[in-house]
Amino acid sequence: MKKKVLFVCLGNICRSPAAEGVFLKMVKDSGLEKEIHVDSAGTGGWHADEPPDERMTHHAGKRGYDLSPLVGRQIRAPDDLEIHDYILTMDDSNLRHVRALDRTRKHHPKIKPLVSYCKIHSVKEVPDPYYKEEDGFEHVLDLIEDACAELLSEIKKELI
Ligand code: 4NP
Repeated sequence: MKKKVLFVCLGNICRSPAAEGVFLKMVKDSGLEKEIHVDSAGTGGWHADEPPDERMTHHAGKRGYDLSPLVGRQIRAPDDLEIHDYILTMDDSNLRHVRALDRTRKHHPKIKPLVSYCKIHSVKEVPDPYYKEEDGFEHVLDLIEDACAELLSEIKKELI
């Protein structure tokens, strides 16, 4: 069975599409596109049907990640909770929001902070870069690359 990963942030225009683009490239580079499905969503719906933030697209592009095909959407409960094997949130607010959607708590174990997979960085959240300077976007990518590399290793073990 295909493993399904959903990255979640607030607007689905900065952090979670960046995570989707980074992880998708890692999955493709490993030849695991048929085994792992990658998606992202926002807890809010203000940016539904919009492309990712231009600044995020620019910084991700510099590292070889193409965010241009991605389109924003809002998380759907209960469908997204049932379909996905990993639901990885960017900050504490996203985590609380997604867990609140899981009223029966059935899916709680698979709803986790993305940074819980970080090996290099020791942080609690991927901070919202929306109102920050350009280096905020680079920091987001540093955290996402760190976590996604470990996430892929974990999923690979499950695929064996
Ligand atoms: P994201 O960033 O949650 O990483 O997509 C944000 C995008 C938009 C807004 C806030 C955060 N906003 O306030 O519109």
